[in-house]
Amino acid sequence: MKRRDKHQWMKDRMKDPFFLKAKKEGYRARSAYKLIEIQEKFNIIPKTGNVLDLGCAPGAWIQVLQKFSKASLFGIDLLEIAPISNLNFLKGDIFSEEANNFLQNKKFNLILSDIAPNCCGNKRQDHLKIMALADRVLEFVLNYLEESGNFCIKIFDGSDVTEYIASTRTFFKSVKFFKPKSSSKESNEFYLVCSNFIKTTKTD
Ligand SMILES: C[S@@+](CC[C@H](N)C(=O)[O-])C[C@H]1O[C@@H](n2cnc3c(N)ncnc32)[C@H](O)[C@@H]1O
Repeated sequence: MKRRDKHQWMKDRMKDPFFLKAKKEGYRARSAYKLIEIQEKFNIIPKTGNVLDLGCAPGAWIQVLQKFSKASLFGIDLLEIAPISNLNFLKGDIFSEEANNFLQNKKFNLILSDIAPNCCGNKRQDHLKIMALADRVLEFVLNYLEESGNFCIKIFDGSDVTEYIASTRTFFKSVKFFKPKSSSKESNEFYLVCSNFIKTTKTD
């Protein structure tokens, strides 16, 4: 980011109520409020069991999970995360063999993905990048989500969304779109909230 752009970004941040609230309430990022809103509307976080948070750095969603649940928490991110209690963390790429090994033989009651690619600003390209990540995340869901478990993923709107939603509808009793108030209006991101995983797929 250019020096002038960074300066403007910092000025905008200081006016952002969710950024200021996160600072005041001790959350690592304003994204905490997105998960709080999702939880308040859909009640997807289990009280116990196992929860997987993909793209978990810097850890704001982990902080929220710890507030709502006593579940064992697992997280993966490309970036290192400042120490946070009781998190089983893998620093790595979700496409890596290490990620497969990390998840092997585990089952989760909830899988979250707030993963975002390095955005270039071109809406079409950014959409395709996040959809490639979303396909990988769906593989994890099919392999590691418990029957009746829940799944929530961030997507940038675009051409491949309809097909992705159709796939998720095959595996979940309910699939809803949600744009939290804390998600910036300028961003084309939204969340897909999928509840009640059905292990056996419908055949045509
Ligand atoms: C918006 S941030 C997540 C914020 C997080 N939910 C929180 O509340 O702290 C998106 C994260 O996705 C991670 N990410 C992007 N591509 C990834 C990949 N291929 N494997 C693992 N993590 C990835 C980034 O490193 C970044 O930390």
